[in-house]
Amino acid sequence: MADKKIIAVTGATGAQGGGLARAILNDPNSEFTVRAFTRNRSSEKALELEKLGAEIFEVNIDDPENLKKGLDGCYGAYFVTFFWEHFSPEKELKEAETMANAAKKTGLKHVIWSTLEDTRNWIPLNDDRMPTLMDKYKVPHFDAKGESNKFFTEAGVPTTFLLTSFYWENFIYFGMGPKKGKDGKLGITLPIGNKKLCSMASEDIGKCAYGIFKNSNEYIGKTVGICGEQLTGAEMASEMSDVFGEEIIYNEVTPEAYRQFGFPGADDLGNMFQFNRDFEQVCCESRNIDFSKKLNPELKSFKSWLVEHKKQIPLDQ
Ligand SMILES: NC(=O)c1ccc[n+]([C@@H]2O[C@H](COP(=O)([O-])OP(=O)(O)OC[C@H]3O[C@@H](n4cnc5c(N)ncnc54)[C@H](OP(=O)(O)O)[C@@H]3O)[C@@H](O)[C@H]2O)c1
Repeated sequence: MADKKIIAVTGATGAQGGGLARAILNDPNSEFTVRAFTRNRSSEKALELEKLGAEIFEVNIDDPENLKKGLDGCYGAYFVTFFWEHFSPEKELKEAETMANAAKKTGLKHVIWSTLEDTRNWIPLNDDRMPTLMDKYKVPHFDAKGESNKFFTEAGVPTTFLLTSFYWENFIYFGMGPKKGKDGKLGITLPIGNKKLCSMASEDIGKCAYGIFKNSNEYIGKTVGICGEQLTGAEMASEMSDVFGEEIIYNEVTPEAYRQFGFPGADDLGNMFQFNRDFEQVCCESRNIDFSKKLNPELKSFKSWLVEHKKQIPLDQ
């Protein structure tokens, strides 16, 4: 244990960070060990990680001094911000800047920054194909992460920029599961036309990140994109139909309609899906399934993930 290199993991009790923490802790031959960041060391998820062998470190990522303490003595860090906790791109920008500065000051050897596209590079603010949100963004939770890449580059932090993908868990926790339409048919509703969406099991993001840390020299300074599958809405619905044994249709709506759904963040997600639809090639070419499998040989297909999580997916709720 003493000679193992420490990886500090933000969001260790969550989806991405949890996947990475478990990947390292479940590998008895790992050269790494985990310092799991959490705001609450006595939560069930923190205790589970502790049981697996993680060192638990209480930190709020908005506290720069404590964050720096948490990074002291570490080899590397996995950094992710949590847009859906606060819906503030400005907060994400500030947090990423704090992370980059703390990584520089503590001399980390390898950081993975969980990022997404700054969509304004493809749809500038004056392009009215989609509305500008919060005055400065097209897809706030993407743009702030993409814009934040600069903090790591400018600070000279040895960083891998990890482009993640749409989680299949959104069908469980994000209200995107199949619902009955007016015709009584179960369907998943997405505004992506007939275009492919890059998607994956969130646990696989962490497993891929582990593959990146294991080959630091190869990936420092690079942007890499991961996904488990690239599927159209119709293909996802068809796989769901197979697994549930009942028909689930793809209910295509326009991004305009999706933006009006009224739940918090519907406009951001409507723009996100429109970006995926209108720039399918950009999104799909930067995320590669074979590469993701190379990083993580256990990479799941949508079908295998569905079979495993079928009971958790709410039908018509
Ligand atoms: N949903 C998708 O399809 C998707 C796809 C790609 C990227 N993303 C991005 O993923 C990010 C979220 O990552 P995730 O899904 O892994 O998160 P998650 O599962 O929601 O978990 C986040 C964890 O982070 C911790 N946390 C939250 N605020 C914190 C703070 N201020 N300081 C320290 N820890 C804090 C919480 O831990 P404690 O409660 O233990 O402190 C929580 O368990 C979002 O920014 C989102 O845009 C989502």
